[in-house]
Amino acid sequence: MSEMDEIALRMVARGKGILAADESSGTIAKRFASIKVDSTEEKRREYRELLFRSNDALRECISGVILFDETLRQNAGDGTPLVDVIRGTDVLAGIKVDQGLVPIKDGDVETVTNGLEGLPDRLKEYRELGAVFTKWRAVFHIGESTPSKDAITRNADLLAKYAKCCQQAGLVPIVEPEVLMEGDHDIESCSDASTSVLREVFGALGREGVRLEATVLKPNMVTPGDACARRATSEEIAEKTLACFHNTVPAAVPGIAFLSGGQKDVEATENLNAINALANASGKAPWALTFSFGRALQAGALQAWGGEEANIPAAQAEFHKRAQMNSKASVGEWSASIE
Ligand code: 13P
Repeated sequence: MSEMDEIALRMVARGKGILAADESSGTIAKRFASIKVDSTEEKRREYRELLFRSNDALRECISGVILFDETLRQNAGDGTPLVDVIRGTDVLAGIKVDQGLVPIKDGDVETVTNGLEGLPDRLKEYRELGAVFTKWRAVFHIGESTPSKDAITRNADLLAKYAKCCQQAGLVPIVEPEVLMEGDHDIESCSDASTSVLREVFGALGREGVRLEATVLKPNMVTPGDACARRATSEEIAEKTLACFHNTVPAAVPGIAFLSGGQKDVEATENLNAINALANASGKAPWALTFSFGRALQAGALQAWGGEEANIPAAQAEFHKRAQMNSKASVGEWSASIE
């Protein structure tokens, strides 16, 4: 087994999941605006440091943290590099390496993801700074005529080229094709779009010669759109999600770490639990099924913090609880009563 295979297995170790704390400057500013905090470099450091210093949450429930470029270079209040704070709890550090979305054509909703240019040099530096895995996010919209074949093939090809480049640099790629929850589409449409996207992604990974054993998939769950009138139960989401993956995701992939994609935090936990409960009952999922949540891990902590130093312990308690709930869900042992 290669060193990268071992890292990939650690990323999806039983009962653990990934904290996505790699919000770009624009996204973190929106999150801070929701609690009326200005997004300064110091405030971003303060907030992320409180998460990374939640020692019990990290030790018990988190395998890896995805960082944004700025955070990988930032020091904690006492001068310790934040990446060392993370590594001090035996948690792996990862880095978002894509550089955001650009419309395929002017005014188009469909996008491709930027970031291949100069990537080998950036990877080399990120490795020296302590990162052992990476992330690249591609986005797909469900609409009348989307996701288009063109958007699917272009993004799949970019994800595969990115993944290959990372493995050549000795870093484990998280491959994130996100079919957005935005819209009034039903769960079947999400299932169809997710299936088409994942088929193409694994075709492209194969063509590029990406080693699947050293790759982690970060997909959306199969759910109805957020404005769809017909809601789905967590059991239905679990059934559709697992059916989609059994059709598309090779068994060589060690783990699937879901994004939360705008689901409410407890909702994301409940759905992750239902997916694992069903996988346990049918006894046939070849991959670990865990979380790589951003909003669904951080929402409570962000609210509790509110930008105030005095609230740090309360924010850490919120984060610890959410991490514990998702840890339980990642093995199918969560229930509403333990909330
Ligand atoms: P959410 O869980 O908030 O969707 O974020 C995960 C992520 O990393 C998106 O790229």
